[in-house]
Amino acid sequence: MDHPPAEQLDVLLTRERIDSRLRDLAATINNDYAGREVVVVGIMSGVVVFLSDLIRGLEIPVRLEFLNASSYRGASTSAGELAVDISGLPVLTGQHVLLLDDIFDTGHTLNRMIGIISAMQPASLQSAVLLWKTERNETGLSPDYFGFEIPNKFVVGYGLDYDGLYRNLPDVRVIPE
Ligand code: IMP
Ligand code: MG
Repeated sequence: MDHPPAEQLDVLLTRERIDSRLRDLAATINNDYAGREVVVVGIMSGVVVFLSDLIRGLEIPVRLEFLNASSYRGASTSAGELAVDISGLPVLTGQHVLLLDDIFDTGHTLNRMIGIISAMQPASLQSAVLLWKTERNETGLSPDYFGFEIPNKFVVGYGLDYDGLYRNLPDVRVIPE
C-alpha cells in the first residue's frame, strides 16, 4: 500500500466531534477523580494529540509520564512484536494511575502495560483510549474510558499513523484496504 494524500482519505471523525466528545470525557474523569491527584501515563507516540487535548480539560491535579510501546506492523491487521520501553517511568506505587493510549484494538498493548504498572502497586489503575475497535478484542479486556467505538478499519490522524505518516491530521480518517 502506498501513502495516499490525506484529501483522498474518508473522514471517520471530524475535529469538532472529537473536541465535543473529549469535553464530556474530561468532565467524567474530573468527576470520578474528584479529590484525588492522578498520574496520566501516555503510551507514545500515537497518544500525543489525544493526551494534550484531554488533559487541558482536566481540573484535578495531574502529573504526566510517558512510556514507549510499538508493535511494528504498518497497516497490517495482525499485531507484530510488541516492544516496550518503561525506562523513563518513575515508580508508581501508591499513585492513582490513568493509562492513556490512542486506540484499543486487540488489547495486547494495554494488557501488557497494565501488567507492568500493576506490579508497581499503584493505589488505582484505569485506562482511557480515544478509539475502541470493539470487534477485535483478543484479551477479554476493555478500556475504562473511551472516546468512540469504531469499526475494524485502519485509521489515521489525530496522532495515529500509518507507516509513520498522517499523525498531524486534525481529524480521524480511514486508510482504504
Ligand atoms: P492493540 O495492542 O492491538 O490493542 O493495538 C494498539 C496499538 O496498535 C495502538 O497503540 C496503535 O499504535 C496501533 N493501532 C491499532 N490499530 C490502529 C489503527 O487503526 N491505526 C493506527 N494505529 C493502530
Ligand atoms: Mg500505540
